[in-house]
Amino acid sequence: MTIWSYDHMIFKSIYMETKIISCTGEKGGCGKTTLNIILATNLYHLYQKKVVLIDMDNPQYSVYKKRKRDLRQMGPTEMPIFPVERATVETLESLIKRYYATVDFIIVDFPGNLNEEMVRGLLYVEHIFIPFFLDELEIDSTAVFYKTLERNYLQNENRVLRSVNLFFNRYELVKVNKFDTVKKTLAKAGMPMMEQVVMERTVYRERYRNTLIPIPPTKENGELGLKRFMEEVIKISKN
Ligand SMILES: Nc1ncnc2c1ncn2[C@@H]1O[C@H](COP(=O)(O)OP(=O)(O)O)[C@@H](O)[C@H]1O
Ligand SMILES: [Mg+2]
Repeated sequence: MTIWSYDHMIFKSIYMETKIISCTGEKGGCGKTTLNIILATNLYHLYQKKVVLIDMDNPQYSVYKKRKRDLRQMGPTEMPIFPVERATVETLESLIKRYYATVDFIIVDFPGNLNEEMVRGLLYVEHIFIPFFLDELEIDSTAVFYKTLERNYLQNENRVLRSVNLFFNRYELVKVNKFDTVKKTLAKAGMPMMEQVVMERTVYRERYRNTLIPIPPTKENGELGLKRFMEEVIKISKN
């Protein structure tokens, strides 16, 4: 055993192996923020992962403000909560350094368009999950976004980005055939689709779009709940 790997092992045993992930994409309204919140609350409460959620959606900071509202609504509580932080491209790196090796997941919520903030911020992300809503126009714009990521990040030798994964959000069983056709089209265009999907559910939109509590498994739709999706995200993030 070389000194390096011995040191490395000690390092690993003391520090957490942090993964930096994000549900992102270049389109607004496809569920990025909703899913980043769901990922954070579920990883933290149901999978006992240490998490920090970083809101880069400057200047709206809707997640950061939502956390404040959620806390006000909840009132005084002893419940453990994960931190929600605000960042700009200037502060992101120092914020990541502050949390790196002390949490399992750093989850970053970006704004909904490919502005400078987003492109520079993406340099830090290891696994990108792109929610895809069934819409003809989205196929083209998502393909362009994927190719941009591939060209600028995935093919770069010094890359941090390890995987880009597309998944269907707001999946509906009544449209299985439509989803299937789109999945084939995306796969043909060389885009990596996840196995699991996130269903269209009112619980993801209303009460449980919350930064303090996860969606209780009892409110889930059994087999169609988030469990499999969460497990796929965790598995991909291990790479
Ligand atoms: N799986 C889902 N089921 C039901 N509603 C959803 C789902 N995903 C997203 N939404 C709703 O879609 C809208 C846009 O979502 P949001 O997360 O704000 O998108 P983005 O961050 O990509 O702009 C919100 O009203 C949200 O509650
Ligand atoms: Mg958003």
